[in-house]
Amino acid sequence: MKNDFESILLAAGSGKRFGLEIPKQFCEINKNYTVIEKSLEAIAPFCRKIVLMLPEDFEPNKLVLSRLEEKAKVHNSKLCFLKGGSTRQSSVNKGFAEINSEYVFIHDGARPLVHKNDLQELLQNTLKYKAALLASPINDTIKQTKDNFIQKTIPRQHLWAAQTPQAFDRLIFQRALEMAQKQNFQATDDACLVENLGFPVKIVEAYHLNFKITFQQDLDLLKALLKL
Ligand code: CTP
Ligand code: MG
Repeated sequence: MKNDFESILLAAGSGKRFGLEIPKQFCEINKNYTVIEKSLEAIAPFCRKIVLMLPEDFEPNKLVLSRLEEKAKVHNSKLCFLKGGSTRQSSVNKGFAEINSEYVFIHDGARPLVHKNDLQELLQNTLKYKAALLASPINDTIKQTKDNFIQKTIPRQHLWAAQTPQAFDRLIFQRALEMAQKQNFQATDDACLVENLGFPVKIVEAYHLNFKITFQQDLDLLKALLKL
């Protein structure tokens, strides 16, 4: 299966909500071990190539880049570095130009915890359905509001929180990107582009924690979890 997949690993964001000079994915979890290295290690066993998207205006530490290269090598995965764009979607677009495999998966560099069993399940579903993503069911009650007052409660029975990786047949994803470009359609995840194409996307439940580092407390939580 590894040979059917190449991946785009997104690390080109600047982390505005995180609020540090250094983009969150390059922060250390431990000495000499950054968030992006953990994300890369999680996906490398599952793809023959990783296209790692880097920020346009931030030079990652050379030591981090060489450790990333080593880690990809250990898993027999080819690694190439590319500069991303100003939006997540434009980073995906640029990375996709380097993808040649039958299937592609896209992963947020800021989701270092993705578990091998969930990833395996996702990729198997992708071979079957051609478009799939990891997601978790919503546990909280969801309120729709106007000016901070509740308008209505949305039944959560059918609601899921989308995560990454999201994986697609390469030719279907190519059509989705082209259509989005033609329509000037901007989405916050990749599945949405395929939905826009009208192609059904399979939800695969993530049974392990796979939160995205967004705020500094997320990194604190990650560090605490890894110490347990
Ligand atoms: N990303 C990217 N290129 C961009 C924007 C985001 O590759 N132009 C990546 C981020 O590096 C991250 C993932 O997409 O791994 C998810 O994005 P998000 O969590 O929103 O990260 P940032 O955009 O960096 O954070 P913020 O929105 O707070 O600025
Ligand atoms: Mg963002």
